[in-house]
Amino acid sequence: MTQKEIIVLTGTNSQVIIDAGECAEILHWGKPVSGDIASFCSSLLRPVPYGRLDNDVAMTLAPELGRGVFSSPCLEGHRNGADWAPVFTMTEIKSNSHSVTLTSEDALAGLRMITELSLDKQDVMKTRHSLINIKSTPYQINRLANTLPLPARAAELMTYYGRWVHEFQTVRQPLQQGGYQQENRRGRTSHEHYPALVAGTRHFDEMQGDVYGFHFAWSGNHRLRVDVKADGRRYMQAEVIYLPGEITLQQGEELTTPWLYASYSDQGLNSMSHQFHSHVRESILDKQIINTARPIHLNTWEGIYFEHDPDYIMEMATQSAQMGVERFIIDDGWFKGRNGDKAALGDWFLDAHKYPNGLTPIIDHVRELGMEFGLWFEPEMINKESDLYRQHPDWLLAVEGYEQPTGRNQYVIDLQNDDAFNYLYERLDHFLTQYAIDYIKWDMNREVVQPAHNGQAAGHQQVVRYYQLVDKIRAAHPKVDIESCAAGGGRIDFEVLKRTHRFWPSDNNDALERQSIQRGMSYFFPPEVMGSHIGSSHCHSTRRRHSIEFRGLTAIFGHMGIELDPVKELQEEKQGFERYIKLHKALRPLLHTGRTWRVPSDDEAHQIHVVVANNQSEAVVMLAQLAMPTNSLSGHLCIPGLDRTAIYRVSILDKPSNYNEIVNYQPFWTEDSCELSGEWCEDVGLTMPILDAESAILIKLEKL
Ligand code: DGJ
Repeated sequence: MTQKEIIVLTGTNSQVIIDAGECAEILHWGKPVSGDIASFCSSLLRPVPYGRLDNDVAMTLAPELGRGVFSSPCLEGHRNGADWAPVFTMTEIKSNSHSVTLTSEDALAGLRMITELSLDKQDVMKTRHSLINIKSTPYQINRLANTLPLPARAAELMTYYGRWVHEFQTVRQPLQQGGYQQENRRGRTSHEHYPALVAGTRHFDEMQGDVYGFHFAWSGNHRLRVDVKADGRRYMQAEVIYLPGEITLQQGEELTTPWLYASYSDQGLNSMSHQFHSHVRESILDKQIINTARPIHLNTWEGIYFEHDPDYIMEMATQSAQMGVERFIIDDGWFKGRNGDKAALGDWFLDAHKYPNGLTPIIDHVRELGMEFGLWFEPEMINKESDLYRQHPDWLLAVEGYEQPTGRNQYVIDLQNDDAFNYLYERLDHFLTQYAIDYIKWDMNREVVQPAHNGQAAGHQQVVRYYQLVDKIRAAHPKVDIESCAAGGGRIDFEVLKRTHRFWPSDNNDALERQSIQRGMSYFFPPEVMGSHIGSSHCHSTRRRHSIEFRGLTAIFGHMGIELDPVKELQEEKQGFERYIKLHKALRPLLHTGRTWRVPSDDEAHQIHVVVANNQSEAVVMLAQLAMPTNSLSGHLCIPGLDRTAIYRVSILDKPSNYNEIVNYQPFWTEDSCELSGEWCEDVGLTMPILDAESAILIKLEKL
């Protein structure tokens, strides 16, 4: 056993103190403290009550049943029935002021565990375990979980739910005995169970409260648990759900969990988001690609669906360029036999009937217009109605002997099958080598049922092979931008983001719905990775109608695009697209680097979204009126994050076309501009204008 050590990891506004001896326990995760920390820690020694085990049982980073922890253990596994209750003893501790690596072993059970944990300057912690089988016989793993403690004052949760076209919805609930558990068995990150949650002090909100945000970076089945132990101690746990018999380690083999990311703030959700956004910008995103101005998209999907006519597409491109679009993307429908969603997935060859002259004339045309070119793929999928399936029926990810349900008429390809993997790589590589393609939209339109390779469960390995396929493509084509899409927001997490550059949050382009979807996503992701398109005035997924102003303002707050057929649009609409494209181009340096603030309002019918430049020289504010105002006067708009000592010019950048018609008169300051101090804006605020339901205004603040 190694010497007992007190390890202190320091971020900027948070600190983690770990007591590492025989095992490792986080004693404090919260505000930074100073002084003789090692000796102060003795104040935390726990009493041992009657009626339970005779000695104190620590709630460690890797809780063990064999040590007398009765909550969910970190490891469940066995060696043909034996070695099922391991107890690890520390053998090595390596640490510096930001990270620690703990190695422990159970010589009896023949297992070694390595736990990594770090806290960076952005106050984001990440941790994972690796388990190694050091005995000669195979070791079967059922569970391997990452565990972090929560303080007793963590009394409330914000968790996620959703579905297709309704992603990233949040819900609040008390954290009490019985706890909370979320299980995702859909084989991808999922629309339903986005793998994140926030725990915090009672009534935590955007601006105040101690909050602990967690994000589990894994694109497959997972379980998140937040529990209150019988003795009152609380913890958060995240793990992959391994399917029966899926994980067996031979001697020397190792299983590593995904990273569990976590961040503490004593100033509520906005500040937590700032930390996650900075971490994503600093440590996850591919800076070479992301730091170039995010080009405005025109995506063909909702414009033409499967109706592909090259001349018409070229006209769409011409009109897109005239509106200011910078990247033109051909979505689904371009490959052999793809005339609807029942056939052809897997046949990644250009459809010669639709494109008799090939893709090159279109790409040349797009490039001559000064735009980049992009193409849609759904590599992991196969329709039974395809040449690929007829040639390789055994490439299905399935259990033989069962007829599994289809999803969008399609099946999943077994990526553990090397021939299938290599075929997919070759096809993607072919297109990326042959054509000047700057971007691909990588889609995944079904959930995974009975994932099996050679009859054995393969849900985990399928995800690993998906990562490997993207990595291989990225290594060969490092300049290609990749968007992760899974029928909208079904595969959005930090692990995917390490290898992609943009997410398609939802197939729902309805501006009202997007307000809540984008808000939910903004807790963990910065706006530059959030695809956000203006759809046609008559939304395809909700059948609602919205003005161009509301659609435009909603779309400019992400990585903007247009999702319709410009050729068919009325002149007035086209002028609107042009206007919001221009506005986005002017604002994107601020939007894509600044700090996002979600501002609470007394009226739930409001949604207020602020982005402030890092140097506080400017800011934009969107005040969205989601439903009818509750009162006839809406109170004050307070704007956080500004330089309190500076004077700002406040002016309206955009407003609904009927802005002045719906009232006797609007607030004086919205007619012209006014000059106010940052302190005034934050503490006193400005009178809110009166807006119709489903409309918005955009306000600009410039430091004088
Ligand atoms: C689902 C995506 O979310 C859509 O944007 C579109 O690409 C379709 N798939 C194409 O099949």
